[in-house]
Amino acid sequence: MTILVTGAAGFIGSNFVLNWLKKYDEKIINLDNLTYAGNLENLKSIENSSNYQFFHGDIGDSVLVGGILKKNKPRAILHFAAESHVDRSFHDPEIFIQTNIVGTYRLLEQARHFYELLNENDKKDFRFLHVSTDEVYGSLRLTDPAFKETNKYQPNSVYSASKASSDHLVRAWNHTYDLPILITNCSNNYGPYQFPEKLIPLCISKALRGDDIPIYGDGQQVRDWLYVIDHCNGIDNVLEKGVIGETYNIGGWNEKTNLDTVNIICESLDEFKPKKNGGSYKAQISFIKDRPGHDRRYAVDASKISNNLAWKPSETFESGIHKTVKWYINNQDWVEQIQSSEYQDWIKKNYT
Ligand code: NAD
Ligand code: TYD
Repeated sequence: MTILVTGAAGFIGSNFVLNWLKKYDEKIINLDNLTYAGNLENLKSIENSSNYQFFHGDIGDSVLVGGILKKNKPRAILHFAAESHVDRSFHDPEIFIQTNIVGTYRLLEQARHFYELLNENDKKDFRFLHVSTDEVYGSLRLTDPAFKETNKYQPNSVYSASKASSDHLVRAWNHTYDLPILITNCSNNYGPYQFPEKLIPLCISKALRGDDIPIYGDGQQVRDWLYVIDHCNGIDNVLEKGVIGETYNIGGWNEKTNLDTVNIICESLDEFKPKKNGGSYKAQISFIKDRPGHDRRYAVDASKISNNLAWKPSETFESGIHKTVKWYINNQDWVEQIQSSEYQDWIKKNYT
């Protein structure tokens, strides 16, 4: 058996592949066009495995995708590939529309053509699982209940609007063409191999370099954090046990303000990599201009996946952050290697 994973050179996709191959003896095909966020180093440990194959290409390349499906006959497509960074979506919206909306549409069409030619038994097993975000539901006030699957879609950023559009397309391909789809909407992830443009790895990497740690606005925005392997296991549960056509929210029941998150990271760094001068990394925290249209609060009600599919996170925020901080301390080469000129340009563009 084989599964096709798009975007598996990125943060969550590569964790998913490594975790999958630890658990199962089933082949994974990775289709990734290696944007700035895609990094084959993440998959170095399994690159020669007979259960892993990489195709360098775009999800929007219908000929390539059609050929991969025809030749490899996967039992499932897990769609992670996306432009994923909110701040970049302000500066360059076009690529978000191209990949997240047009790319997803083309992938769905190829999945549909492939599915229609399967025999009845293979049709029963086939799934198209779309990996999405809680940001499609918009922003919550502090007193609002957490996002449920029934919440209205109210995306506010180019990123979340493009992901919301892709969710709608995926849903429509089920209703219109009977493609057996599943959708997951997850909260903010953190863990190994996350590109240091997102809050947690950016904070660790800036702290270790002795740079200012940038916090947008007052730092009182709230995010619901989930350790990446818990997300991967949740996707696995949905793939195997989820009801076709349904959406599952995945979250960590772990709301934190950005300032609290950064303080916890600094305390963890103080413990695992104390500064030579004995001071705390907290002294590097610097409040900067707020992000435009900054969503105030995200929180996920994950009771559906928890009650119906017996999933729950195994890491607490404390244990997950400790693992993550230690991973970045021990993998400074990985961090250095991705600090390309593109990355330096991005930091200049966004922070000066
Ligand atoms: P990422 O930016 O780290 O990785 C994205 C990967 O997709 C990269 O390897 C990139 O090269 C690849 N890619 C981009 N455009 C492509 C294209 N046109 N064709 C083929 N490959 C392409 O993203 P991530 O954080 O790993 O997120 C993965 C998925 O999970 C995304 O769909 C994202 O919306 C969703 N998600 C992310 C989070 C989070 O906190 N990071 C939370 C919830 C949901
Ligand atoms: P981020 O990791 O970009 O994820 P998202 O925007 O998808 O939630 O940001 C998490 C929170 O951290 C968000 O409220 C924005 C904030 N943030 C900062 O305060 N400073 C930064 O330099 C970055 C990148 C994010």
